[in-house]
Amino acid sequence: MLGPVRATGPGVGEGVPMQRSGTPIAGSRVLVTGGGRGLGRRIALRAAARGAAEVVVWDVDGERAEEVTAEITAHHRRASAATVDIRDAGAVASAAVGAGDVDVVVNCAGVVTGRRLLDADEAAIRRTFEVNTLALYWVTRAFLPGMLRRDRGTVVTIASAAGMVGVARQTDYSASKFAAVGFTESLRAELRAERSHVRSLLVCPYYIDTGMFEGVRTRVPWLLPILREDDVAHAVVDGVERGRAQIVLPPAVWLVPGLRLLGTRGFDTLMDVLGINHTMDHFVGRRPGA
Ligand SMILES: NC(=O)c1ccc[n+]([C@@H]2O[C@H](COP(=O)([O-])OP(=O)(O)OC[C@H]3O[C@@H](n4cnc5c(N)ncnc54)[C@H](O)[C@@H]3O)[C@@H](O)[C@H]2O)c1
Repeated sequence: MLGPVRATGPGVGEGVPMQRSGTPIAGSRVLVTGGGRGLGRRIALRAAARGAAEVVVWDVDGERAEEVTAEITAHHRRASAATVDIRDAGAVASAAVGAGDVDVVVNCAGVVTGRRLLDADEAAIRRTFEVNTLALYWVTRAFLPGMLRRDRGTVVTIASAAGMVGVARQTDYSASKFAAVGFTESLRAELRAERSHVRSLLVCPYYIDTGMFEGVRTRVPWLLPILREDDVAHAVVDGVERGRAQIVLPPAVWLVPGLRLLGTRGFDTLMDVLGINHTMDHFVGRRPGA
């Protein structure tokens, strides 16, 4: 593994180490929030297959979390499940004591409302921010001290392409994911400033075929395809091992926020051409508990 590499040019990073090394999954304890379904489940299964010492699956739906750990233990790998509502900071702190030291935390749990601003109710809006943004603080703060003590590990945040560009019917979701991007970049800056080897990985995928965005279509599949959850899970696990700081999928998503350079009129026109807002027409979002 590479050690810290110091940036050398004057003013570049001011001598802050550029961390290049990742966290090997084999032998690590990996915790996945929202691991009972969709992308979180896939990441849990992949981490187990890659030789994780133990995979800890947290989900508000404990039955689903246990189904995933049963899938893992059926392959003679270690796994444990816990019912945790990550909106509850106290519940997160006590579940973290039960989980013990963790090397890789994957903040994957997320919710979407999918309503127009005036159609979304207050409870749903609050829930989006509590799960997608505030819980990042509760979960990361529960495990980071142990990682810093051991000077190893990775905190993964599954944000979204919606955290790079605002989309119709996503005033809550998009804003919560922009905040998740800011959280993760700031955390990376803190870790670098502290010369820590703990890594922070930001993941911004376009739509994934998990069912969370059922009904959403892509108008330009050659440029912005709907992603397969297994491919995203592979990229996440691989990114942790390689010590990547940010993953944007598909890479064409990088172009979308760049459209801002065209001014708002050019930006809106190209967003229309790409169909990014109109493809939401048949989307209403998952109900809580669905
Ligand atoms: N599906 C997509 O198109 C897409 C695209 C970009 C980013 N993402 C992000 O990827 C992540 C996973 O999405 P997914 O498609 O697998 O979603 P999903 O709905 O299939 O799974 C989300 C899981 O999170 C759990 N969860 C919800 N609220 C929780 C809470 N309060 N406490 C604990 N667990 C909770 C759910 O029970 C569920 O098991 C989310 O953060 C989502 O925003 C999804």
